[in-house]
Amino acid sequence: MYFELTEEQLMIRQAARDFAQHELKPGVIERDEHQKFPAEQIKLLAELGFLGMMVSPEYGGSGMDAISYVLALEELSKIDASTSVIVSVNNSLVCYGIEKYGTEAQKQKYLIPLAKGEKLGAFCLSEPEAGSDATSQSTTAIDMGDHYLLNGVKNWITNGGTASTYLVMAQTDAAKRHHGINVLIVEKGMEGFTVGAKENKLGIRGSDTHSLMFQDVKVPKENRIGEDGFGFKFAMNTLDGGRIGIAAQALGIASGAYELALQYSKERKAFGKTIADLQATQFKLADMATEIEAARLLCFKAAWLKDNSLPYAQASSMAKLYASEVAMRTTVEAVQIHGGYGFVKEYHVERMMRDAKITQIYEGTSEIQRIVISREVLK
Ligand code: CAA
Repeated sequence: MYFELTEEQLMIRQAARDFAQHELKPGVIERDEHQKFPAEQIKLLAELGFLGMMVSPEYGGSGMDAISYVLALEELSKIDASTSVIVSVNNSLVCYGIEKYGTEAQKQKYLIPLAKGEKLGAFCLSEPEAGSDATSQSTTAIDMGDHYLLNGVKNWITNGGTASTYLVMAQTDAAKRHHGINVLIVEKGMEGFTVGAKENKLGIRGSDTHSLMFQDVKVPKENRIGEDGFGFKFAMNTLDGGRIGIAAQALGIASGAYELALQYSKERKAFGKTIADLQATQFKLADMATEIEAARLLCFKAAWLKDNSLPYAQASSMAKLYASEVAMRTTVEAVQIHGGYGFVKEYHVERMMRDAKITQIYEGTSEIQRIVISREVLK
């Protein structure tokens, strides 16, 4: 067991930390308030190679490992969880899926611009009536010979309005249930494809979340990823990696709120001493620090398994389940430590508390993670 990070990993963490301080922190409150997409910041992150972190340099990526990915996402999320989810979806749900399962032509056409961050990607599985129960897809992709005819609605799609490349899961043969689902690469601008209104969200308000409508969209056969009927396995496998990204995001939200609470507790005076001198505060800080460290180790474990081509579905669900619950608990306590100041926007922790909630919902709720974990332990 070796707990040290490599020189390269330390450099990536520092680069993400510097970026978050200098480029994300200014304006983060305003972007949250006005639901403003961080377009300029995403462009800069693309130039730094953060949009295709784990993609091979051959396809325009940075060729980093999953540990580095966790480190970078934690640092970005400490300051701005809206930006980190945009990065996370592009990296682990879109680039990863095309690189692992796409054809060479799909990689040349779609992966390279996505990995370079010239274009953004979206992952479209959820539907109005199919969130946790992902098998029950109502969107249909009828096989028309040389193309699929795509019809249906997708909901809560991260990067829904800003993306150019969409991975859309749809049912081709309902009788085959999950074996009848395909995943198609859909381009913005294809006839019949429209983007719905932007959702007005509780948290991660800087990221854009939309519903998507498909009406008789003709998607060429060559845009299907994998064999006929591979779409559900594609989604499940891709989400295994996506959950490492969301776990790292939750970890970052927790550690960002903890650092603010720690700092504040050393400055704020009450009853003739700093509140850090009060045992009530000390016990809160001790619990926060311990839980954050445990969440971090779970993230590293899942990433390490992925880097070493070992099974990581259970580990990524454990990391996401635990880190998201820690994010929620920690941010609530960080607001409490800040007292009245915690309830106003200037002190950041109220935003972090709102942002934390989504980590228990997207890429599988906490209940879904428990299903994945319990199935593994009961095997
Ligand atoms: N990797 C590969 N294959 C997998 C898999 C995995 N991790 N997990 C399951 N499968 C396969 C199974 O082997 C099975 O295949 P066979 O029939 O050939 O054996 C098939 O998939 C069906 O598996 P299950 O019977 O386990 O399926 P289920 O209907 O019981 O569902 C579930 C399992 C875990 C509940 C799944 O539906 C699930 O993960 N639901 C949550 C979906 C989700 O996370 N949605 C988030 C949307 S994306 C998002 O939020 C992105 C964003 O914008 C931020």
